[in-house]
Amino acid sequence: MASSLSLLRQNTFLSATLPTTRPKPKYASAPGRVRMSLQENAPTIAVVGVTGAVGQEFLSVLSDRDFPYSSIKMLASKRSAGRRMTFEDKEYVVEELTAESFDGVDIALFSAGGSISKEFGPIAVNRGTIVVDNSSAFRMDENVPLVIPEVNPEAMEKIKVGMGKGALIANPNCSTIICLMAATPLHRHAKVLRMVVSTYQAASGAGAAAMEELELQTREVLEGKPPTCKIFNRQYAFNLFSHNASVLSNGYNEEEMKLVKETRKIWNDKDVKVTATCIRVPVMRAHAESVNLQFERPLDEDTARDILKNSPGVVVIDDRESNNFPTPLEVSNKDDVAVGRIRRDLSQDGNQGLDIFICGDQIRKGAALNAIQIAELLL
Ligand SMILES: NC(=O)c1ccc[n+]([C@@H]2O[C@H](COP(=O)([O-])OP(=O)(O)OC[C@H]3O[C@@H](n4cnc5c(N)ncnc54)[C@H](OP(=O)(O)O)[C@@H]3O)[C@@H](O)[C@H]2O)c1
Repeated sequence: MASSLSLLRQNTFLSATLPTTRPKPKYASAPGRVRMSLQENAPTIAVVGVTGAVGQEFLSVLSDRDFPYSSIKMLASKRSAGRRMTFEDKEYVVEELTAESFDGVDIALFSAGGSISKEFGPIAVNRGTIVVDNSSAFRMDENVPLVIPEVNPEAMEKIKVGMGKGALIANPNCSTIICLMAATPLHRHAKVLRMVVSTYQAASGAGAAAMEELELQTREVLEGKPPTCKIFNRQYAFNLFSHNASVLSNGYNEEEMKLVKETRKIWNDKDVKVTATCIRVPVMRAHAESVNLQFERPLDEDTARDILKNSPGVVVIDDRESNNFPTPLEVSNKDDVAVGRIRRDLSQDGNQGLDIFICGDQIRKGAALNAIQIAELLL
């Protein structure tokens, strides 16, 4: 069985972590393929946290989308400084993140945790860099746009590379992005008054170490051994439990409150009622969410299905006859969020409510892809 780290990093660039038998990655220049991304007049980029799960996915998405750059800095902690990695046929050395790292950098993609963002985000901005931050450090700061490009690109319309000053843009929480990719097109049509979200969140949302532990525990339990419990302090394999985020005095955990607060900010709607229950399930990669919606105006299920079929970044998998609906496995390593189980909520009058089920890869659309789509809007 492949290790979970290798599962997570199938598309990664760190030669030191890759098995020697690893097949050539799909983004390495195929013979005859002309790469458009390395260009003299394109922006200079830095990836902060490049050795991590999201950092590695940044590189994969940059390459997949031929994002234009004239140079790219690979930044991580002191521990990784000096490690070599190959990206688009060029060798790079990972550098330790310091204040000077941002000199001459146009766009910095941050995914090294909230404390690093809080410390180095403002430093980068002062040096004229536009920071796209994956942590929760600045999401609720009213001066920082919180953006899903398919939903509220207007929130960052004034921020562009070449405007002569730095800026911060926040990437929303992965569960919020996946939920709003499907809920927003319906909200635009019928206005959501209340939304009830139940999540089924994968190990990968807690990083590579959590994935490794899930795989290790699965083997241990099948062999009748006691499971190793380091990341979550409890058995994860063949189990599920309330999300590991801290529980607040109101009884909600931080992950649930992110869904509540971020939805209001992204929709610019202080009155929308949102409640959430976030659960970790023993799935390796990609989150699932059950979402119940109550609308101001009627919206029948056929119209909702048509709206979703025509929404960018969304695919509909809703085959009642074959009982075939979205699954985390199907959306893993994919850009699109999948929606199914689209049905009228019988507990509400007429067509005022719908139930939907969504699956999305939270490292991809929930983190790296969304951040790079934001970076594309800066050009
Ligand atoms: N995993 C997800 O699905 C997901 C989704 C959305 C957002 N996020 C957010 O993205 C961030 C990273 O998550 P991840 O899952 O990629 O974590 P991860 O795999 O643990 O990677 C953490 C990265 O941060 C770097 N780092 C740690 N301390 C540092 C320091 N002092 N200076 C510079 N770099 C430092 C690490 O470098 P070393 O290798 O040198 O330690 C590594 O590159 C977190 O804020 C997380 O909340 C994650």
